[in-house]
Amino acid sequence: MTADGRFFQTAYDARAALDYLASLHAPPAALAFSAEELTGERVQPTVGPHVAALLDVLVRALRPRRILEIGTSFGYSACILGRAAATYGGQVWTIECREPLVQAARDNLAACGLEKTVNVVTGDARQILAGLDNSFEMVLQDGGKEDYLPLLDALVDRLEPCGLLVSDDVLFPVMTLPASAAHWAQAMSDYNRALAVHPRLRSVWLPIGDGVAISVKLDSQ
Ligand SMILES: C[S@@+](CC[C@H](N)C(=O)[O-])C[C@H]1O[C@@H](n2cnc3c(N)ncnc32)[C@H](O)[C@@H]1O
Repeated sequence: MTADGRFFQTAYDARAALDYLASLHAPPAALAFSAEELTGERVQPTVGPHVAALLDVLVRALRPRRILEIGTSFGYSACILGRAAATYGGQVWTIECREPLVQAARDNLAACGLEKTVNVVTGDARQILAGLDNSFEMVLQDGGKEDYLPLLDALVDRLEPCGLLVSDDVLFPVMTLPASAAHWAQAMSDYNRALAVHPRLRSVWLPIGDGVAISVKLDSQ
């Protein structure tokens, strides 16, 4: 047995493994707009197929009645969350601050027949969260990376006990980012450290997509 408790020394090319696993995932919902079609918009990457598959499985298994997403973009992950939540009557709220993306997301959600399941909220998540009383059983944090840490406790407050906080892009600290995004590595490094020691959360980090952390809110908190 190896020092970290494994029976086999795993040696594979991580990129090749992800490409292989991506070929196993079902294609996401048919969208009216893709990032490429949104010409003139600075569109940041979506969660991608691996994290989309993880979200799909988590939502179908845990059936959260109320899901909150920070960072809608053009609605790729919102369609994934909504498609799964619609199967049992769950509801999704997703917050996006850029108006053209809000419209594209609404069009994508309508193309998927999810306009009654997913509510796109326009505005700055920092202000919207401050005025939000509702609680959620699952939160996807995929908004501005510099906002992750400042919003962490507010999101934990709004999570129900045993609820899940899913945080995308947690491997930015070890990725080669474009110069315009390099400062996000430090923001995500600080965020990961805060997750690791958070008294109200237990977290696991998965090296899929750009890295995803899954945190459960402790029942007693
Ligand atoms: C990585 S993209 C989201 C991708 C999306 N979750 C998906 O997988 O399809 C991040 C989005 O967060 C939005 N955003 C950044 N800061 C925000 C804020 N303070 N309030 C609301 N949205 C914000 C950006 O405009 C951008 O569209």
